[in-house]
Amino acid sequence: MPKLSLRDLPAWCGLAAKRRNLPASQALRSMFAVDPGRGERLTAEACGLYFDFSKQLLDDETLRLLVELAEQVNLRRRIEGMFRGERINTTEDRAVLHVALRSAPGDTFAVDGHDVTGDVQEVLGRMSGFAERVRDGRWIGHSGQRIRTVVNIGIGGSDLGPVMAYEALRHFATDDIEFRFVSNVDGTDFSEAAAGLDAGTTLFIVSSKTFTTQETMTNARSAREWLLAACGGDTAAVARHFVAVSTNGKEVSAFGIDPANMFGFWDWVGGRYSMDSSIGLSTMLAIGPERFREMLGGFRAMDRHFLTASLERNLPAIHGLITVWNTSLCGCETMAVLPYEQYLKRFPAYLQQLSMESNGKRVQLDGTLVECPTGPVVWGEPGTNGQHSFYQLIHQGTHRIPCDFLGAVHSLNPLGRHQAMLLANMLAQAEALAFGKSAEEVAAEGTPARLVPHREFPGDIPSSTILYDRLTPAILGALVAFYEHSVFTQGVVWNINSFDQWGVELGKVLAGKILPELESATSPELRHDSSTNALIRRIRSTRNLT
Ligand code: F6P
Repeated sequence: MPKLSLRDLPAWCGLAAKRRNLPASQALRSMFAVDPGRGERLTAEACGLYFDFSKQLLDDETLRLLVELAEQVNLRRRIEGMFRGERINTTEDRAVLHVALRSAPGDTFAVDGHDVTGDVQEVLGRMSGFAERVRDGRWIGHSGQRIRTVVNIGIGGSDLGPVMAYEALRHFATDDIEFRFVSNVDGTDFSEAAAGLDAGTTLFIVSSKTFTTQETMTNARSAREWLLAACGGDTAAVARHFVAVSTNGKEVSAFGIDPANMFGFWDWVGGRYSMDSSIGLSTMLAIGPERFREMLGGFRAMDRHFLTASLERNLPAIHGLITVWNTSLCGCETMAVLPYEQYLKRFPAYLQQLSMESNGKRVQLDGTLVECPTGPVVWGEPGTNGQHSFYQLIHQGTHRIPCDFLGAVHSLNPLGRHQAMLLANMLAQAEALAFGKSAEEVAAEGTPARLVPHREFPGDIPSSTILYDRLTPAILGALVAFYEHSVFTQGVVWNINSFDQWGVELGKVLAGKILPELESATSPELRHDSSTNALIRRIRSTRNLT
């Protein structure tokens, strides 16, 4: 039987018709005008998140068709398959079971018939013991001093999750320890992170799933040399100042880190889905084991909601389906994530990897080309700062950019009118984007005719608002799981593998080839294109190499 194309699915055809019939302008104005209950009805709530999607360019019928689409691509069965530990990462033949990382005692998550929840709890227990000892000063450095600075060395998922979570939960972090993060192979990153540090009170966490990533291993070696230089070359210091987070025990030992100081995880955890595994060790050191478990509780609550709630009320599923609607049917190539929450300043960068490394794919599971645009470009900055830079383009530019606004009702740092002003700005932006300001309205204000087009706002820029009470560890967990499962939902509809990342390989291989050409003492034979060859020659000659 020939494979059924996405475009042939009845729900897809219905959605395409809905898209064709969308009014060219003022669609949201009329949708709100004819339907006073819309702003309360097109919302959903779970796990402390209130999700308002009423300012999206859709109506109840669009929503019904999106849910039907989810049913026609068997989303429910695919969710269950992930939770059952099926090898849904087909190109790497792996299960995808980050949901097991936040399992509660009594849960069962099996990979190849082995219940992994005991392994997860065992590592969590070891992490907790270690974190307590570092936090209360029982863990001492080589010269007998307690740890005052933790430096996480990692990149991609081994950096973005830890940094994002540290920044997000800083309010709950200990003041006794400073946290720094090194990711870039640019020596400046390590040098600046190490500047002013006392090696005797510094602990490095080398975070790398594979323990072979070039950037991380180079930074880790420089850190080791830096430590040894500071303690007279005594290699015994390494065991007191280095711990590793990895799935690769062999490479960890080869690096010289005591396996007793290694915190493991498993190949069924993707790098960008690992911030709640031992990759979160820096997070646990910062906020303590109890708060870390609260964060896991938030993840778990959203997991259960995703697994059990009807698709009509399912927050991540709805968000994922709306992203498909915007990206694949309405032609929106990017989406902005705009946290009105300073603590979430690294959240857009975190979501970039989560979404773009997962769904930046152009072939389906069977290797054939996808049938519509897939993963959107994700970007963003915290409000209100963005309002004074790029919002101009969102309001009046030529791209239609769906936005996610995120905000807390209560600040963790109440200060005069700040929070009310912050929230007023968030709500105002969503309102302005949705409804704009027509030429007639601008003219009615007495604006000279020649300025009217410049001061008109077209509106119909779709947005969702995600509101929560306060940014607690549990809320952060729920928020991250919400986006993880939204990304999963999108991938299921697009029929792509959201869990591999072959696209990062080619550049790595070519860099491996170019490195010796840049460093060689004798003039290398260059076989690249003329541009790459000329750039290599220029760099070599500027560095006084022949
Ligand atoms: O190169 C991409 C990538 O593999 C990401 O998927 C991953 O998060 C990152 O590199 C770091 O990998 P590792 O944790 O193995 O060092």
